[in-house]
Amino acid sequence: MQRKILVTSALPYANGSIHLGHMVEYIQTDIWVRFQKMRGNEVHYVCADDAHGTPIMLRAQNEGITPEQLIADVSKEHQADFAEFNISFDNFHSTHSPENEALASQVYLANKAAGHITTRTISQAYDPEKEMFLPDRFIRGECPKCGADDQYGDNCEACGATYDSTELKNPVSAVSGATPITKDSEHHFFKLGDFEQDLQAWTQGGHLQDEVSHKLAEWFESGLKDWDISRDAPYFGFEIPDAPGKFFYVWLDAPIGYLASFKNYCDRSGVDFDEFMNADSETEMVHFIGKDIIYFHALFWPAMLQGAGFRLPNSIFAHGFLTVDGKKMSKSRGTFIKARTYLDHLNPEYLRYYFAAKLGSGIDDIDLNLEDFQSRINSDLVGKVVNIASRCAGFIKKRFDGKLADSLSEPALFNEFTEQSDAIAQRFENREFGQGMRDIMALADKANQYIDEMKPWALAKEEGKGQQVHDICTMGINLFRVLIAYLKPVLPQTAIQAEQFLNIDAMQWSDITTPLLSHDINKFKPLMTRIESDKIAAILEDSKQTIVAEKPVAEKKGTTATNNSSIEPISDEISFEDFAKIDLRVANIVNAEHVEGADKLLKLTLDIGLGEKQVFAGIKSAYQPEVLIGKQTVMVANLAPRKMRFGLSEGMVLAAGPGGKDLFILNPDNGAQAGMKVK
Ligand code: MSP
Ligand code: ZN
Repeated sequence: MQRKILVTSALPYANGSIHLGHMVEYIQTDIWVRFQKMRGNEVHYVCADDAHGTPIMLRAQNEGITPEQLIADVSKEHQADFAEFNISFDNFHSTHSPENEALASQVYLANKAAGHITTRTISQAYDPEKEMFLPDRFIRGECPKCGADDQYGDNCEACGATYDSTELKNPVSAVSGATPITKDSEHHFFKLGDFEQDLQAWTQGGHLQDEVSHKLAEWFESGLKDWDISRDAPYFGFEIPDAPGKFFYVWLDAPIGYLASFKNYCDRSGVDFDEFMNADSETEMVHFIGKDIIYFHALFWPAMLQGAGFRLPNSIFAHGFLTVDGKKMSKSRGTFIKARTYLDHLNPEYLRYYFAAKLGSGIDDIDLNLEDFQSRINSDLVGKVVNIASRCAGFIKKRFDGKLADSLSEPALFNEFTEQSDAIAQRFENREFGQGMRDIMALADKANQYIDEMKPWALAKEEGKGQQVHDICTMGINLFRVLIAYLKPVLPQTAIQAEQFLNIDAMQWSDITTPLLSHDINKFKPLMTRIESDKIAAILEDSKQTIVAEKPVAEKKGTTATNNSSIEPISDEISFEDFAKIDLRVANIVNAEHVEGADKLLKLTLDIGLGEKQVFAGIKSAYQPEVLIGKQTVMVANLAPRKMRFGLSEGMVLAAGPGGKDLFILNPDNGAQAGMKVK
C-alpha cells in the first residue's frame, strides 16, 4: 500500500551558515526521503529557515540591515548549499511567513480557548540603555560559584555550574555594556502540565527511539513546568494576537513552521493540507532532529498540536552530534567546516556516503575522521563500486557494439544480489544506514571477486572466447546496476550518471530484480575520482581563514553586539617583551583588489619602504578596493608568512571595529613615511 508521508528536517537558524554538523541531519533525512520515494510512496519533504528571535534581530542591527534583509540573504545561501548537496526538499520556506503567522495564531488561540494558556508577571534582566530584556546568553559576568569572569548568564564554562542570570556577579549586558537591572513584565505561559498524562503515554508509545523514551521518563519525574512562550518588544517575531507589544517566543512558532512550509507547498501543488493535519489522519508525519532539541519536539510540540486539535507526529527520529577527528568541531583547528567550504573542494556525494556509512538508528554522536573518510571513499566507492562498471563497459562497447548479452550466465549470482533487496530496504526504513552500506559493500566485494576470477581481460585475448567475455561483462554490468540501485538514495547524482550510462529510466526499488538483457548501453565515463589529500588540507585551511574573517553576534566572548557601543573587554596581560616582538610599520597601499572566490578578503599590495608585501585582509565587508589605493595603514611586518588558498599572505593590517561594515583600517595622518616603525 502506498504510504503518504510528510517529512521534515529541523529548521536551521537564519543567523549563520550551514556547517557539516547540520549536514548530518539533512543528509540523513534526504536519504530516507529518497528511499521512500524509490519505494513508490507519496512523500513531501519540507523545511524552512528559522528566522525569529533575539540573535537574528541583533545581528541585523549589527550589520546595519533589516532583519528581513538578513533572513532573505541567509535563505539564499542556505538553499544554495542544500541544493548542491542534493537535498531534495519539496519546499523550503521561512518561519517569517504569512502562513506561519496564521498557523501560529491558530494554534495559540485554540490552546488559549481550551484553557492551556496562562499569564503571570516575572522579573528578568533588562538592559536599561538598549531598552530590552536580555536573554541569558547576552549577559556576561563572574560565576557565582567559582568566580571565573566573563561567563554566560546561565552557565559557567570554567566550573560547569548552572545558575540564574540574576546570580551572576558584576553582570554586564553583552549588547551595550550597561549593567542590567531587574524589571517586571507579564508573560504568557503554555501549561504543559495539562498534557502530562497524554504525553506520558505518547512518549512511551513507540513514536520515539527507546533511549529517548527513557530519557523523557526521567523528565516526567521532575514534573512538567509551564513554558514561557512570550517575549517583550523589541523582538523579531510575530506579535501575539491578543497581546500588543508581546511576541511569540521563537520556539513557539518554529515547529509550526513545519506546517507553514507544508501549507505553502500545498497551496501551490494541490496537495490536500487538511488530509494531513486532521487529528484522525491516516497519513504519516515524521520529524528528523538533532538530540539537542528533543525536549521541544517530544514534549511541547505534541502538546501544542493536541491542544489545537491537530494530528500528532508518528515519529521523531533524533540523531547524535558530529565530531571531527574525535573532537567537537573547532574554529581554531579548522574543523568547523562550512557546507560551502566543503563544496569548494569535494564532491557532495562523498560526504553523503560517509555519513550514511556512519549513521545508525540511535542518538550516538558520529565522527568524521578525515583520514578514514578519504580511504573509505577511495576504497568503497571508487575502488569497489565504480570499478565494476569500468572493468566491463569497455569490452561491451568495443567487442559487442554496446549491447548486453541476451541472458544471464550466472543467474544464481544475480539472485544473491537481488534477494537482499528486502533486507536492504529494511535497513533504509529503520535508518540503519551504516549496516546497509556494509551489506552493499559486501556485495560489491563479491562482484569484484567474480570478475577477478573470470578474468575477462585474459579471455578477450584468446580465440573463440567471445561469448564468455560477453557473458561475464553482462553479469558485471548487471551486478553494478543492482548496487547502484541500492545506493541511489545515498548517491543520487552518481545514480543519474549511471542511469545515463546504462541507458535506462530512473530506477525504482521494484526494478531491482529485473536484469538488463539484450540492451544497448552508452559509453562509460568515470563516475567518480579518488580524494587526494591536498583537498582535505585545503578544506581545513580555508575553514581557518573564513572563520577568522567573521565574528557572529554573541558567540565570541565579550564581543558586544551593536554599532553604537562595540568595545570588547581588555584581554589578558602580556609582557613588554611580548609586545616588543611585534614589528609594526607604516605601509603605503599601492594596490588593492578583489580575490576571486573569496567573500571576505581583499588582496593588498603594501609598500613598507623595504620592498612590497602581499597581504590578504578580511576587510571586504567594509571597503571597496579602489578607495584603499593610495592610503596608508599600519601593518604587522614580521608575521610569519601564511599560505592561504588564494596565495601567500605576508603580514596583517590593523583594523578596529566589530566587523561587517564597521571595520576601520588604521590610517596614519599623511606625512608618515612608508616603513616607519610604529611606536
Ligand atoms: N532552529 C532550531 C530548530 C528548530 S526546528 C522547529 C535549531 N537550529 S540549528 O540551526 O541550531 O540546528 C538545526 C539542526 O541541525 C538541529 O536538528 C541540530 O540538532 C542540528 N545540528 C546542529 N549542529 C549539529 C552538529 N554539530 N551535529 C549534528 N547535528 C547538528 O536548532
Ligand atoms: Zn564557575
